[in-house]
Amino acid sequence: IKIIFIETDGTEKIVENAKLGATMMDVARANGIDGILGDCGGGCACATCHVYVDPAWQAVVGNPDEIEEMTLDMAGEVQANSRLSCQLVLNSEMDGIKVTVAPLV
Ligand code: FES
Repeated sequence: IKIIFIETDGTEKIVENAKLGATMMDVARANGIDGILGDCGGGCACATCHVYVDPAWQAVVGNPDEIEEMTLDMAGEVQANSRLSCQLVLNSEMDGIKVTVAPLV
């Protein structure tokens, strides 16, 4: 599926071949998206994979669970559309999703 990443400096990077079932964090790292570190390896423990989901896509991805909320508290500049990309498992409904990489703290 296709994912549009907007890096913190505004650069748009489009990944066309993201695999269903992968996490958005893994796809970002494999494609060299700046600002997605994924330091904890996807364990919902580091918040270095923080993204802002484009409002048009928020209903598709849903809201963070309690554990993700707690980890998000460690991230800077949390917004209503903040998610940890390691918790976003790609499904076919997400084809074309747009996210903006959040600044690292
Ligand atoms: Fe650490 Fe997502 S990779 S919280």
